[in-house]
This record gives sequence, C-alpha cells and structure tokens, in this order.
Amino acid sequence: MEFFSWAMTTNYIPYIISITALLLLLEQISYLKKKRFLPGPTLVVPFLGNVISMVTNTTKFWEIQSSYAKSTPLGISANYLIGHYIVYIYSSDLSHKIFANVRPDAFHLVGHPFGKKLFGEHNLIYMFGQEHKDLRRRIAPNFTPRALQTYTNIQQRIIIKHLKSWCDKSRGNSIPLRILSRDMNLETSQTVFVGPYLNEEARKRFNTDYNFFNVGLMALPIDLPGFAFRNARLAVERLVQTLAGCAEESEKKMKAGEEPTCLIDFWMSENLRELSEKPFEYSYREFGGHLFDFLFASQDASTSSLLWAITLLDSHPHVLERVRKEVANYWVPENDAVITGEHLREMKYTEAVAREVVRIRAPATLVPHVAGVDFQLTENYVVPKGTIVFPSVFDSSFQGFPEPDQFDPDRFMEREEDRVYKKNFLAFGAGPHQCVGQRYAINHLMLFIAMFSTMVDFKRDRTDGCDEIAYVPTIVPKDDCRVFLSQRCTRFPSLD
Ligand code: HEM
Ligand SMILES: *[C@@H]1O[C@H](CO)[C@@H](O)[C@H](O)[C@H]1NC(C)=O
Repeated sequence: MEFFSWAMTTNYIPYIISITALLLLLEQISYLKKKRFLPGPTLVVPFLGNVISMVTNTTKFWEIQSSYAKSTPLGISANYLIGHYIVYIYSSDLSHKIFANVRPDAFHLVGHPFGKKLFGEHNLIYMFGQEHKDLRRRIAPNFTPRALQTYTNIQQRIIIKHLKSWCDKSRGNSIPLRILSRDMNLETSQTVFVGPYLNEEARKRFNTDYNFFNVGLMALPIDLPGFAFRNARLAVERLVQTLAGCAEESEKKMKAGEEPTCLIDFWMSENLRELSEKPFEYSYREFGGHLFDFLFASQDASTSSLLWAITLLDSHPHVLERVRKEVANYWVPENDAVITGEHLREMKYTEAVAREVVRIRAPATLVPHVAGVDFQLTENYVVPKGTIVFPSVFDSSFQGFPEPDQFDPDRFMEREEDRVYKKNFLAFGAGPHQCVGQRYAINHLMLFIAMFSTMVDFKRDRTDGCDEIAYVPTIVPKDDCRVFLSQRCTRFPSLD
C-alpha cells in the first residue's frame, strides 16, 4: 500500500517536470524575443534572472552590463532581473533620448522600486506635463542667488559644528565618514528647508522617523505591522504631517510680511504672490509631501559627493593645495566671518573641483525609468512596453571628455569642458525632471570642500580596495571613507 501510493505520486512527477520546463522555456523565449540582437546574457535563471550576481557584487554586475553595451556601436545591452526585462544604456545620446521622453505615453521615472507605495503617487518625480511644469516654476524661486545666500549661512554653521566633532572623534584614530556626513547633511537640509519651524523635540522625532524611512528603503515591501516597510511608510506619513505644519507656520509668517529665512519661506512667499495674481487650490499637505521629496532627493546624493571629494582631494595633493590657496584669498576661519554667495561665485577653482568630483563619481549612477509603451529607441530596436531602462549617467561622464579617467578640475577652467561636453555631463539628469537642487548641491559641495580643506588636516586610512565603488545605492568609497582627521586652523570660527 505504502509503495503503491508512492508510485502513484511519482507518476505525476514527470508532468510537473514538463510543465515547469515549459514555463521556463516560455520565460526564456520571451526574454530572447525582447532582447533580439542586443548584447547580454543568452540564458537567464528562471524568474530571479541575474539578481543574485547583482546583489553579491553590484559594482561588478553593472560593469559587466556596461561592457556588454560598449561591445557594439549601438551602446545598449539587455538583462533580466526578478521577472523584469531590463535595458542598460551606455551611450550619452540614447540616455538623452530617455530623459527627453519622460511623459505619460513614453518613459516614467522609477526612483525606487517601491517608491509609490512608500512616498505616495504625488511625488514630483511621478508628475508629468503642465502640472509638473507649473510646480517646477513655483520651486525655482527657492534657488535664486538671494535664497542661496540665506542657506549659505545656515550650511556653514552646521558644517563647522560637525567638522569640530569629527576632529574630536578622530584623535589619532581613523574614522569612517559615511554615516557622519549623512547626519551632517540631514541636519543641513532640515535646517535649510524648515529650520525655524522645528523645535528641539520635533527635530528628535524627525530624526527617528527619518531613520525608520532609511531602513525601510532597503527592506522588502511587506506592509504589515512590525515590518520595516510598514514602519517606514508610517514614519513618512508623520514626517509629511510635520512638514505640512511647517508650511502652514511659514505662510502665517510670510503673510505678516516677515523676511524669508529658510526654503519653505521663499516657497510660501512665491505662493502668496501667485495667489494674489490668480487664486488656485493648494494644501499644506501637498507642500509637506514635496518638502519630503526634497529631503529624500538631497540626502544620499550629497553624502556621496562629499565622500568622493575627500577621497579625491586626498589622492591629489596638488589639487588640495590649490583649493587651500584659493579659499585663503576670501576666507580665514580665525576671522569669524562667513563665506558669502559672492565669494562662492568667485572661487572658480573650488567650483571646478566640485564639478569634477560630480563628473568622475556621479552619485546616482543610474536613473531607472519604465517604458509605458513600446518605444522606438533606435532605428532597429523597439524597447518593449514594461521594460525597465537604466540610462547610465556614470558611463556618460567617460564619453566625450578628453582623458576621462583623469581627475582634472582644470577641464572646467579655461578649457570650458562643461560647455563643450555639456551633453555628456548627465550627473544631474536632463530634460523636464533634471535635478532642481543642482545649484544648491554644488554650493553645498563647494562650501564643504572649502571648509574641510581649510579647517582640517586629513589623511586617508588606506586599505586594499578602499577607493573601489560600493552601491548603497548611491555610490560611496568601499571603506565608507576612513580618514585620520585633526584640526588645521588655530581655532574653529564662531559665527553667532
Ligand atoms: C550631488 C548631489 C545631487 C545629485 C548628483 C542629484 C542628482 C539628481 C538626478 C540624477 C535626478 C534625476 C534627474 C532626471 O530624471 O533627469 C535628480 C532629481 C531631483 N533632485 Fe537631485 N541631485 C543632487 C542633489 C539634490 C539636492 C541637494 C536637492 C534638493 C535641494 C535635489 C532635489 C531633486 C529633486 C526634487 C529631483 C526631482 C525633480 C523632478 O522630478 O522634477 N537634488 N537629482
Ligand atoms: C566586485 O567586483 C570587482 C570587479 O569588478 C572587484 O574588483 C571587487 O573586488 C569585487 N568585490 C567583491 C566584494 O567581491
């Protein structure tokens, strides 16, 4: 009897095997049909695709994908990841074609795999057309020279405070700077965006919630009590509420005719001005949501750029020397003065260094988009609907520019390679969704480079492979940027 039932069961096994084999075959055929003549792996692991090699060594995975793409003049390659057909784009020209065609009937920015669930459908990056254009127009006054000048003062106070504490922490030992600079950047963006409206307690809650959010970003999207993803979603909800409250407070203050002292103030003043011309509907919650997008968009990319700046200044002492010289013409820490917006505009070499850091180590290397329709990308190749395309802004930096592997800030001085190879500088994206915060981001990087170089003596704690690229998922030095730090100025400035 036992044997009989066992034999019965085994009789089904061949069927199960053949059905599974058939499904795998269909999946394989579907992949090859989409891939057509594109370079990329011919066989893919069922369902998972190549996600295992991607997770075990992300850097290597994208390097291989990039060499596939470079292997033909077309400049694109294919692969398969967890049930998704993907197309990788090496060529600057084709990347531009994606960025220029972000609209409901072509490509949609993805941002994060579970982004819509986590921070809602109304995120700036999911908007299209006139509505998106109008919002971008209203955001522009947040980044005028006058507004940036206001932020500069806030940024410097916070940078000084953190550099001081880094030096205290180091005391002869090397310390990893990734988390420390992320904390510094979070405090900076928080204060620049809504500083006057967060009291000490609100700030503490804010930081705890932002931490829940960061953990959730890396978690599986399991929306159940106790899971990291649910915690993150609820934390985002609270953060947006808090930020909405800040917008409301700011509006009151701006209505009363006070001077703007942070980003939301500039935004609310512009809003009030537009309202007086032509009434329209808006809610504080909406502002809260957008402010949250700003926080999210500014955090990790900025941190990445700061860490690479340290790494590259350490390995290029003559560049560091020139930065120190230039800064000394405008700013001496012991004078207790601030670096002004005017100074920043005149520090041409420091700006060239900041741009070169962002070129050679584009913080957000890939900007994933999903194809909403079949899209004719090249003469012969149609990207099938549902494909996730990955324009590589990282690869673009190594096209056009002469000797692209050289860290050479001089390319952005007399040689004006920023103008000549504008097309290849894609680190901030292109087209309708191009980074709104780029001027602020460059200012922040410049301020950091200027102050760090001037106030701190530093040396990288070099280990094998410490400068290799790690994905977190913006890119950072593999060792989280370990350095020895000590105070270089005779005393840290006091700006109050
Ligand atoms: C070095 C630092 C930064 C880098 C490399 C960077 C890069 C990018 C990239 C590649 C995009 C997508 C562009 C596209 O799809 O064409 C983007 C979008 C965006 N960035 Fe940045 N970013 C940085 C800093 C910032 C900062 C500091 C802010 C805020 C103050 C910010 C706010 C935004 C926003 C709001 C968007 C979405 C724009 C839209 O969808 O219309 N970014 N950024
Ligand atoms: C990942 O791959 C790169 C080569 O692309 C290699 O240099 C690096 O050591 C690898 N990292 C790990 C952790 O294996």
